[in-house]
Amino acid sequence: MRLLNLDLTDYRCYEKAQLLLPSGITVIAGRNAQGKTNLLESVFLCCAGKSHRTSKEDEMIRLSAEYCHVKAAFERGNVRHDIHMTLKRGGRKRILFDGTAVKRTADFVGQMQAVLFSPENIQIIKDSPARRRAYMDVALSQVYKSYLRALMDYNKALSMRNALLKQGVDGSAWSTLEVFETQLAHYGAMVMQSRRMFCQEAGPKARELQSKISSGADELSLSYVPNIACDAGQEESAILEKFKKERERDILRRVTGSGPHRDDMLLQVNGLDARLFASQGQQRTVALSIKMAELDFMREHTGNRPILLLDDVFGELDAARRQQLLTAVGDCQTILTCTNVEALPLDRSRIDALYKVDQANVTLWE
Ligand SMILES: Nc1ncnc2c1ncn2[C@@H]1O[C@H](COP(=O)(O)OP(=O)(O)O)[C@@H](O)[C@H]1O
Ligand SMILES: [Mg+2]
Repeated sequence: MRLLNLDLTDYRCYEKAQLLLPSGITVIAGRNAQGKTNLLESVFLCCAGKSHRTSKEDEMIRLSAEYCHVKAAFERGNVRHDIHMTLKRGGRKRILFDGTAVKRTADFVGQMQAVLFSPENIQIIKDSPARRRAYMDVALSQVYKSYLRALMDYNKALSMRNALLKQGVDGSAWSTLEVFETQLAHYGAMVMQSRRMFCQEAGPKARELQSKISSGADELSLSYVPNIACDAGQEESAILEKFKKERERDILRRVTGSGPHRDDMLLQVNGLDARLFASQGQQRTVALSIKMAELDFMREHTGNRPILLLDDVFGELDAARRQQLLTAVGDCQTILTCTNVEALPLDRSRIDALYKVDQANVTLWE
């Protein structure tokens, strides 16, 4: 997988930005708040169909503009593809893939694949379950179209059921609730099965890495915590049963209380919940280990090497963690940002392109 070029118009702070990307390592250097992360965000957007920073698409449009355009060309298995995404303020995004309009975002996500490492990855461990669900969802969505479709269909049915509950449900609306529940159980089961599979595969990989980085001191376990617990294969009936059981309570509370939209993932170091008991340093290592596991998962399931996006990560990593990350850099196209090129743990000869970003101007550094 290789990004060939990136062309931004009115995206975030950029009126115009154009970059050519070599196959190895591209470094984007600049002081704070110059637009480095914005560049990586636009690449991630072309892969995952959404920003890693915001769910509000309007934020990505330059403040004085009505539209923004992100164009990218990439190569996968020696075939070149083109993406042209247009965001309109207050409107829906439009995507052209190889010149053809994309009807559903789910059909487009994962054409190009990337894994993004950033200091904020630690929030996967520290934050609410939503972050951990997003971690699973981003990896699975880029690998399986069917996963993203199921997730979107689940969310759509969920918001319709919630809208109905919010209105207030009388006897006549029960059958409508049941219709939504059948859909939720069908799509929700697909979501749950994939998340379970992801955790089963990513878990041992993350454990191995954590052990390596901590010289055997940390035993990491990653496990799926479905909101509706059930045996593998029983998801659909378990969801249906739970909805039925909780229907009256949902009607009173006017919201759908249980379901995969409340799933979580448990990360434990030496048997203790990493969110509550791990040190800052251990949490950083967990963040790195699970992101590396995500990378491995994507590689194995797609047969492609995803693009690595490293946003200001080296500064906070110690030697052992840097080493792990650099092994991955070795064979994936990598785009990394930093404030100081001299401080990178990379020999200058390994850098294939060096860009400088200053006040939203991107230039090749001589
Ligand atoms: N929609 C927008 N329009 C104009 N400027 C924006 C927009 N969104 C963010 N910015 C600007 O982008 C800059 C931050 O860019 P960022 O890529 O996060 O910087 P860094 O180089 O530190 O990674 C800030 O100056 C911010 O004001
Ligand atoms: Mg930044």
